[in-house]
Amino acid sequence: MSIPEDLIAAAREARANAHAPYSGFAVGAALRTASGHVHKGCNVENASFPEGCCAETAAIAAMVSAGESDIAEIAILGPDGRETLPCGGCRQRLAEFGSADLAVHTRDATGAWRTMTLGELLPHAFSLGRAAR
Ligand code: THU
Repeated sequence: MSIPEDLIAAAREARANAHAPYSGFAVGAALRTASGHVHKGCNVENASFPEGCCAETAAIAAMVSAGESDIAEIAILGPDGRETLPCGGCRQRLAEFGSADLAVHTRDATGAWRTMTLGELLPHAFSLGRAAR
């Protein structure tokens, strides 16, 4: 699959607003829903460290707030020169709103983009089934 430039641009816009004074690790995420809309988010850290949230979580919250619930793909952009893969909690949050073939676009330390499916990143995901949505 080709890497969608519009999602990368949206993730870059969101990353510029990241609040990451504690880690210095600014992240932007942009997702596309099945209906074609793009929602984005950045990480928002807190002086009480566990209260911070990831960029993917913020993008999911923006999507749900807009009344959508079906993620087709997501691009995640961390700092230049740093591989950025979604944390375990965000993989589970993506599984709440996407199928195993949801495309996850990430960048490695060289700046190269690659695409993996959510099924590859989170095999055997826990689910209560689609009826719970
Ligand atoms: N972070 C994200 O926002 N997304 C990721 O995919 C990886 C990590 C954030 C959490 C924290 O604010 C900072 O990056 C360092 O872990």
